[in-house]
Amino acid sequence: MTTRIAIIGAGPCGLAQLRAFQSAAAKGAEIPELVCYEKQSDWGGMWNYTWRTGLDEHGEPVHGSMYRYLWSNGPKECLEFADYTFDEHFGRPMGSYPPREVLWDYIKGRVEKAGVRKYIQFNTAVRGVSFDETSGQFDVTVHSYDRDLTSTERFDYVVVASGHFSTPNVPYFEGFESFAGRVLHAHDFRDALEFKGKDVLIVGASYSAEDIGSQCYKYGARSITSCYRSAPMGYKWPENWEEKPLLTHVSGSTAFFADGTSKHIDAIVLCTGYKHHFPFLTEDLRLKTDNRLWPLNLYKGVFWENNPKLVYLGMQDQWYSFNMFDAQAWYARDVILGRIALPDQAAMHAEDLAWREEELTLKNAQEMFEFQGKYIQTLIDATDYPSFDIAAVNQTFLDWKHDKYDDIMGYRNKCHRSLMTGTLATPHHTSWLEALDDSLAAYLSDSPQTAIKAVG
Ligand SMILES: Cc1cc2nc3c(=O)[nH]c(=O)nc-3n(C[C@H](O)[C@H](O)[C@H](O)COP(=O)(O)OP(=O)(O)OC[C@H]3O[C@@H](n4cnc5c(N)ncnc54)[C@H](O)[C@@H]3O)c2cc1C
Ligand SMILES: NC(=O)c1ccc[n+]([C@@H]2O[C@H](COP(=O)([O-])OP(=O)(O)OC[C@H]3O[C@@H](n4cnc5c(N)ncnc54)[C@H](OP(=O)(O)O)[C@@H]3O)[C@@H](O)[C@H]2O)c1
Repeated sequence: MTTRIAIIGAGPCGLAQLRAFQSAAAKGAEIPELVCYEKQSDWGGMWNYTWRTGLDEHGEPVHGSMYRYLWSNGPKECLEFADYTFDEHFGRPMGSYPPREVLWDYIKGRVEKAGVRKYIQFNTAVRGVSFDETSGQFDVTVHSYDRDLTSTERFDYVVVASGHFSTPNVPYFEGFESFAGRVLHAHDFRDALEFKGKDVLIVGASYSAEDIGSQCYKYGARSITSCYRSAPMGYKWPENWEEKPLLTHVSGSTAFFADGTSKHIDAIVLCTGYKHHFPFLTEDLRLKTDNRLWPLNLYKGVFWENNPKLVYLGMQDQWYSFNMFDAQAWYARDVILGRIALPDQAAMHAEDLAWREEELTLKNAQEMFEFQGKYIQTLIDATDYPSFDIAAVNQTFLDWKHDKYDDIMGYRNKCHRSLMTGTLATPHHTSWLEALDDSLAAYLSDSPQTAIKAVG
């Protein structure tokens, strides 16, 4: 009987898995039957922007957490696919920090070329996955919105590629219920213009905090106050941006902070991260972790140790993203194709624990991305995924970090060199702070005037 694989989600991870198998098939391998279920109507996962918040048109939680005017927060040279370069897709050099729509176009270009759309059932949500010990197979229950039909099929492997930046972690602070303005989580943030002229409070000190605060600044908020639980972000903020210790409570439209200070606030954006959330998996299959570089119980960061026919992609906190997902997908593919043998469970767990031990010793950002780079290297060394210079990517991450500390509102104007093709990025026609129109057309146009006029 043909081996069947269910892939949950057609974001960058699910698409990496499809592309990995298609690439093996193109080289003559016989590949299993692939069925990818995607609850949205199009591919690209998080990069497929939605204006919706709350529940979607089918009553399902909205997946998207991306917002208008989002640009890559790391150099594109660090996430470039090794088998499909920016040069190949765009045919010309461009800036190092493209907006979302440009990256979505790039993600789509590779899978359109590979011809893998035929494997995807769109508008289809996975509702349940359980493992049947007798048959050694999974029962996967899905709901097709188009047919309004729930059905169950059997699979030999399941690949969980449903992402982990969708279910918001929403802490409570005293006084929220009577706060005079709007309280929202980053997951529901869509358009910074909503906060033009407002005093905005950002809770959190990671990427969402930094970027949503920066968006609000760019699009005309009166003031930004960000507050941290563990440590300040520590960048050189513009004059109207103040960083404070954690919020203690709010009263009316006043926010109070742990250092005893208080401030007038119109709106609060909780940039407090996300939960790994897999409501469709039975308890024995469910990964439980916080957002970290080495989630436990995943051999090679991928295989569920208690049942390695279950594969998780992209569950790590991400310095590396697209090319890490590829490295994982290629490795998973080769295990499924029988090209790589898995050790026994005890050996898998011992290796897993060794990575975790190492993760616990990491003291700074540089050690963290080097750790993730080393992990990726171990995966790509074992497969035919095109090798690339991880040490050079790490250096680009380091340069990026320095650029941010030099100028948090200007680092996106810097140019980096492709580690795949050697092409040096060219400066975008308009500085990030001035470029209000983030559309693909404005980005690829040669004229700064066009870009600004398009916003009106
Ligand atoms: C605001 C924000 C900005 C980001 N910016 C960057 C950036 O600049 N650079 C970068 O490298 N990374 C960035 N990321 C990280 C981003 O998550 C990854 O780049 C990438 O999208 C992860 O891919 P994924 O396939 O794991 O998950 P997703 O992209 O989240 O895709 C998962 C897919 O699974 C589908 N799905 C989920 N549940 C089900 C179900 N039950 N049934 C069927 N389908 C389902 C979803 O609809 C979705 O299409 C950002 C993340 C966020 C939240
Ligand atoms: N392209 C872009 O510009 C962009 C923009 C936004 C997000 N992203 C991506 O999205 C992903 C998620 O980033 P994220 O910033 O949302 O999540 P995150 O990196 O997991 O950070 C969560 C933040 O919330 C804080 N936090 C959690 N619970 C809290 C509580 N109860 N009270 C106060 N603070 C609390 C954490 O503080 P502690 O440090 O104390 O734990 C941390 O600062 C990342 O991969 C990022 O790259 C990219």
